[in-house]
Order: sequence, then C-alpha cells, then structure tokens
Amino acid sequence: MQHISIISSSVRPDRQSHRVALYFKNYLTENNVANVDILDLKEYDFPIFTETLKRQINPSREALEFAKKIKSSHGIIMVTPEYNGSYPASLKNAIDLLYDEWRHKPVAIATVSTGPFGGSQMLLSLQFILWKMKTWSITEIFSVPNVLQNYDETGKPTNKAATDKLAEAFIKELMWCVKANNSKI
Ligand SMILES: Cc1cc2nc3c(=O)[nH]c(=O)nc-3n(C[C@H](O)[C@H](O)[C@H](O)COP(=O)(O)O)c2cc1C
Repeated sequence: MQHISIISSSVRPDRQSHRVALYFKNYLTENNVANVDILDLKEYDFPIFTETLKRQINPSREALEFAKKIKSSHGIIMVTPEYNGSYPASLKNAIDLLYDEWRHKPVAIATVSTGPFGGSQMLLSLQFILWKMKTWSITEIFSVPNVLQNYDETGKPTNKAATDKLAEAFIKELMWCVKANNSKI
C-alpha cells in the first residue's frame, strides 16, 4: 500500500489547523487509500535551522527522521494555516532543511483559516516554493474556511458527507499523481 505523510505545520499552542491534519488521517485510513503518518512540526519542535541537513555536521535525530519520512513517502499532504497572507515560518524552516528529498514528490496543499477565505492568499507563494523544490505540486486544492465551525478537535467534520466529497476529489488527484510518478523511493 502507498504511504502518505501529512505535514501539520502550525506550532502554536492553541492551533486549529491540526484538526484538518487529523481529518485527512482519518479519511485516508477509513477509505483504505494509504498508510498514513502525521509529521507534526509542533511535536518535532525544530529549532530555526542554520544549515540544510546535508551541510549539518551533527544533525539531530529528529531532523534525520523527518528527512527519512519525506524521502520514503509516496506523497505528501501539507496542511497549513495562513499567517499574514503567507504560510508559517515553521513550514518554510522544514522545507528549507531538505532539497533532494522533495524532488518529484507529489504534494497536495490544504490551506486553513479561522476566517471566511480559507487561507487562499498563501497559495501562490507556497506553490512557487514547491515548484522551486522540484516537487509535483498537484493543482487540486483543499481550502478550509471557518475551521472552528467546520471541524471538531478530533478532526471530525461538521458536515461529513460534503467534506468527504471535497476530500475525495483532492485525494483522487494526489493518488493519480502518486501512481503516475511510480517512483522507486
Ligand atoms: C500570526 C498569525 C497571522 C494570521 N494571519 C491570517 C491571515 O492572513 N489570514 C487568515 O485568514 N487568517 C490568519 N490568521 C488566523 C489563522 O487562520 C488561524 O490561527 C487558524 O486557526 C489557523 O492557524 P493555526 O493552526 O495556527 O491555529 C493568522 C493567525 C496568526 C497566529
């Protein structure tokens, strides 16, 4: 079975976008789509990296593990909040840590906001750096407005049927890309 890693990007104590990471873990498992890991940047608690992993003399166990998980995943879902019209520094820190690991990796973006616009302003800047990192960033987007009203803390959506329908189209595109990639990871 394919392996998908979900990056949960927010490291805030009171974060809300993690609900969407939990939702995707549940969705992929329930529907038997793939094996799933959440790569939780809050749990990793990375420092601001001063070098890429390749150039670090004594990389931490956590940084090595993160690199291994990205490299060995068939596809990635990036769940990210919008901060001031962009993605959070925690996500850029984790992206910039690696380089080769991202190459040809299918990546799907889920943007999250407590407001009505679903984090859509950050999309172009995140897609641009994913292009720079040579990922295969899929065109289907999962945009979550009003996250507090739409998901509970366990990731259960308020309207499961409607949410699952949107997720189905998003995941279908990611898994198409995973299949087309057929990478020897
Ligand atoms: C520093 C900061 C900047 C934010 N900027 C935006 C923004 O530009 N647009 C938006 O819709 N929400 C913005 N928000 C609200 C987030 O959408 C909200 O915190 C949401 O719960 C997702 O982030 P979280 O997972 O860290 O909670 C911002 C939140 C923070 C902490």
